[in-house]
Amino acid sequence: MTKVIAVTGKGGTGKTAITALLIRHLARCNKEILAIDADPDTNLPETLGCELEKTVGDMKQFMLTERDNLPPDINKESIFESKIYEIINEMPDYDLLVMGRPEGSGCYCYVNNLLRGIMDRFVTNYDVVILDTEAGLEHFSRKIIRDVDDLLVVTDGSRRGLRTAERIRELTEELETNIRNIYVIANKVTDTNREKIANLARELDLKLIGTVPVDRMIEERDLAGDPLFDLPEDSIAVQEVERIAKELGL
Ligand SMILES: Nc1ncnc2c1ncn2[C@@H]1O[C@H](COP(=O)(O)OP(=O)(O)OP(=O)(O)O)[C@@H](O)[C@H]1O
Ligand SMILES: [Mg+2]
Repeated sequence: MTKVIAVTGKGGTGKTAITALLIRHLARCNKEILAIDADPDTNLPETLGCELEKTVGDMKQFMLTERDNLPPDINKESIFESKIYEIINEMPDYDLLVMGRPEGSGCYCYVNNLLRGIMDRFVTNYDVVILDTEAGLEHFSRKIIRDVDDLLVVTDGSRRGLRTAERIRELTEELETNIRNIYVIANKVTDTNREKIANLARELDLKLIGTVPVDRMIEERDLAGDPLFDLPEDSIAVQEVERIAKELGL
């Protein structure tokens, strides 16, 4: 059975970093992984250290041209599928699909609709599908992400970060999305705020599954523009993410 994990939360809390560290863990467990960068800002490839070639957004022009040229009896779905396979970046340890943004227009409906289709059709080929989403609630309010086993809401030490988690939980309940579990991961945690965050999460009735500390190794790599994928085992963030992964049964 494929496990679908989506990572969400307020801007800048560390969604992409946590996603990359989870992929790092899964790769070391030899899982078949599809990583999807669903953020139009596209940061996951860099954080993983993957040279990006193609994005789903780039397909828009191709599909528009093809639509007019294709004979009416041809199965457009199969063309769509073969095109998606071309766009999946096959890395040694994982496959990466980058949604990106459609060329030219400011509307993401096209890319989002494709993402919905991908989620419906492609996920069963993998052990784990993990999505890094953009900040905000759009992927949920538009029901682009519907069937998820574990939704991980990343928060920082701020009250606002935990409020976002609360709002995401309310929204997913209202929309009757098919999300099995919602967990909160507090990131960039320090000894000073660890307990306060845990108390606030309890007050808000949020399931705090882990607290990832501020990690100097991440800060250094960020400044140097180096990926997080090959962080060593003695990184304190790696250790906590591995613990979280085990708790999630990964
Ligand atoms: N545990 C950590 N320790 C130190 N720095 C961290 C940690 N986690 C993330 N960071 C840093 O915090 C910044 C934001 O992280 P990241 O890009 O992962 O956040 P994000 O939630 O994906 O942001 P966005 O909303 O823009 O997509 C980055 O500079 C990253 O290197
Ligand atoms: Mg990000």
